[in-house]
Amino acid sequence: MVDKYLRVLKEIGIDEVFMETKKSTGDNIDKTKLLEELNKEIQECKKCDLYKNRKQAVLGEGNPNAKLMFVGEAPGADEDRLGRPFVGRAGQLLTRLIEATGHKREEFYIANVNKCRPPGNRTPTPWEQEACFPFLEKQIEIIDPKVLCLLGAAAARAFLKRPVSITKERGEVLNWEGRKLILTLHPAYILRNPSAEELLFEDIKKAVDIALSD
Ligand code: URA
Repeated sequence: MVDKYLRVLKEIGIDEVFMETKKSTGDNIDKTKLLEELNKEIQECKKCDLYKNRKQAVLGEGNPNAKLMFVGEAPGADEDRLGRPFVGRAGQLLTRLIEATGHKREEFYIANVNKCRPPGNRTPTPWEQEACFPFLEKQIEIIDPKVLCLLGAAAARAFLKRPVSITKERGEVLNWEGRKLILTLHPAYILRNPSAEELLFEDIKKAVDIALSD
């Protein structure tokens, strides 16, 4: 059937066609299924006390084949209510800056280090980060992004296992387990310091460019 179709195309002068293979479709389904299974696991997680105050855990969302993954600190009130990452004011700013690079939020994957909202939006403790990190590691393994763009000092600390001064270290490209890490400011910081928006945009643009380069 496919051969006949290709012969007809050749007869009318088309020598090359792009076909999505069964394998890539299959991979997609597998990844979605694996992420769904991971989601079930995190909804039941009681490894740290953050489960006590959550409405729901927030796994993350986006393209399961993303080359670039944004990683924030933890869900806030809006995210906890809606079950989606970065949908409040900070999230809207992040979405706007992603779009300013000429891309759509849906092309990438967005997640957090901690999957449950800390009470009063406090920063998760190192212990709470450590308890949740294996879920993020599993998520990274499934999505397999080339670049991780870490939003804020808390996300950077979870990866680097040391305190990070994000205003000093932002924009740096580091290697982590065979992937590139780009540290940047948290969008919530920009809401308090709007003059720094250009810096966050610069880092997001860098992350996009590196992720999409060959
Ligand atoms: N801040 C974060 O770090 N993550 C979210 O999902 C929302 C706000």
